[in-house]
Amino acid sequence: MKVINTIIQLRELLAQYRSEGKTVGLVPTMGALHEGHASLVRRSVEENDITVVSIFLNPTQFNDPKDLERYPRTLDADCKLLEQCGAEIAFAPSVKEIYPEPDTRQFSYPPTDSVMEGAMRPGHFNGVCQIVSKLLMYVEPDRAYFGEKDYQQIAVIRRLVADLGFKLEIVPCPVVRQSDGLAMSSRNALLSEKEKVTASNIYRILDESRSLGLPVRQTHDYVVDKINSIDGLEVQYFSIVDGDTLADVASWDEAPGIVGCITVFCGTKPIRLIDHIRYK
Ligand code: PAF
Repeated sequence: MKVINTIIQLRELLAQYRSEGKTVGLVPTMGALHEGHASLVRRSVEENDITVVSIFLNPTQFNDPKDLERYPRTLDADCKLLEQCGAEIAFAPSVKEIYPEPDTRQFSYPPTDSVMEGAMRPGHFNGVCQIVSKLLMYVEPDRAYFGEKDYQQIAVIRRLVADLGFKLEIVPCPVVRQSDGLAMSSRNALLSEKEKVTASNIYRILDESRSLGLPVRQTHDYVVDKINSIDGLEVQYFSIVDGDTLADVASWDEAPGIVGCITVFCGTKPIRLIDHIRYK
């Protein structure tokens, strides 16, 4: 596997592969790779001739500088994992390489980017759109792979791709969970073993809420009350939404697909964990 740090080298290498008629899959990441990322990379390796994995801790999507500061950085281990998964290129540029000048572009795709994470983390999705649009311009992939763990992010990226007219397939990949249900996330590395056990209650309760047969409002309250009753967990928001538009729903027959999206603070630091559940 080649580790590349500059856009020019990346473009040259990809031009060579393209001239040989090879297809290219892109897996954008911020590093601190885990089994969830590995599943995206393996899928890309299966479906494309060449897989490019970007490892770039994108500063413009962090609205909280402390969150950026403590984000785990594990480049050597990341490259080993990517090599094992069969990726051809790890693209690990510096911040200066990606942003030689401040990126002043503004992206706005309401309601997908203004609700939930968009409301809690102002500017977050603008930063995601800045970096993803740049990566799509550099790599021009046939397919790009994103984890469904960040359910809202995929909805925003779909709008970005349609808006800017990129020609590629967005491939959403299922959440990878530990055996106790905890969704794999780079942020889990910041949890103690005890906090990880506590955090596994989030998915257990979401899953339980599917079989209650309650109306939307009561299902919402059940999840929030149950999670908040556990020591070390505090729900920031739980929204039951149309799976496409992300608009709130008031009844189960309001949309063909309905998803519950949650953010919970876990532990004393505290660490912010996100997850979701599909109701239909
Ligand atoms: O999901 C992530 O890890 C990031 O938001 C992404 C898509 C790599 C952009 O920095």
